Amino acid sequence: MVKVGVLGYGTVGSGVVEILEKNKDIIAKRVGQEISVKAVLDLRDFPGDPVEKVLVHDFDIVANDPEISIVVETMGGVHPAYEFVKTCLENGKSVCTSNKALVAAYGPELLALAEEKNINFLFEASVGGGIPIIRPLKTSLAPDEILEISGILNGTTNYILTEMTEKGSDFDSVLKDAQDKGYAEKDPTADVEGYDACRKIAILTSLAYGKQLDFEDIYTEGITRITDRDIAYAKKMGAKVKIFGSSKKVGDKVSAMVAPQLIYPEHPLYSVDGVFNAILVKGNMVGDVMFYGQGAGKLATASAVVSDVMDAAKHAGVNIITLWDAEKLDLVAAEDARN
Ligand code: HSE
Repeated sequence: MVKVGVLGYGTVGSGVVEILEKNKDIIAKRVGQEISVKAVLDLRDFPGDPVEKVLVHDFDIVANDPEISIVVETMGGVHPAYEFVKTCLENGKSVCTSNKALVAAYGPELLALAEEKNINFLFEASVGGGIPIIRPLKTSLAPDEILEISGILNGTTNYILTEMTEKGSDFDSVLKDAQDKGYAEKDPTADVEGYDACRKIAILTSLAYGKQLDFEDIYTEGITRITDRDIAYAKKMGAKVKIFGSSKKVGDKVSAMVAPQLIYPEHPLYSVDGVFNAILVKGNMVGDVMFYGQGAGKLATASAVVSDVMDAAKHAGVNIITLWDAEKLDLVAAEDARN
């Protein structure tokens, strides 16, 4: 029996607990042993929720429990998530996280620590919600030199733009709807200003080239300056406004940016609407590969986290090496990337 600790019982954390319970037989069969949640850390109480039986308010209970071999981090934010994750790894527990802010900021350090300890630091859910993209980049696409990664990487903004285009809804009410549905970040500024997509393209690009791309260095523009008139004009021209995160190999350097674009029906991502995300990867051998699915939301994102928990359980005591070190990726200047 594998025992798991969950840090944070919000949208994604509660989804992880739900999937581990509802699909426990399938999961046990595929892993070769049962996986059960031993402790859930949250500051809040949840009266009437079965989680109360395993709910704890003290991180040390999870960190120091020798029975817990895998920790799920679904708290979000960089601090104290970083300190908690680091302590868990130091204590020999594999960590599976959905936290792109944490991965974009501390990925190389936490991966190196996991490698040193022969455990795993996994983050499939940090990009694209339920879409498998991290694992394919590390495995199926490993023989290729990656020439380009480009996609709709934020479910909240794609949902907002779709509703504004199709129903003429106003920005604030659709944003509220996206928050109610559990798509948006705790602070939705990260979604609407493009910072969330920026961290995701930084993670994908760093993984593709094995070197750190700092998200602060990426030219980033969100959707807050897009008006109803822009949407109406785009519609009149038979086009749609979408926000893209992209990176491209330019000689020995890489150019990366996040910005809204006008796309026409011929574009492969024209039909990617609502909370869906899609990511196009161009390899120098495989050619174009497209990944599509629900980019945000409780169970889609939690499913990706649980896939990591299963991987960590199957590879107990073996580090699944992810080549991504702290050396900086040579980036084309933001001004040049825009032009
Ligand atoms: N707020 C994010 C989004 C959640 O809307 O895409 C998934 O990373």
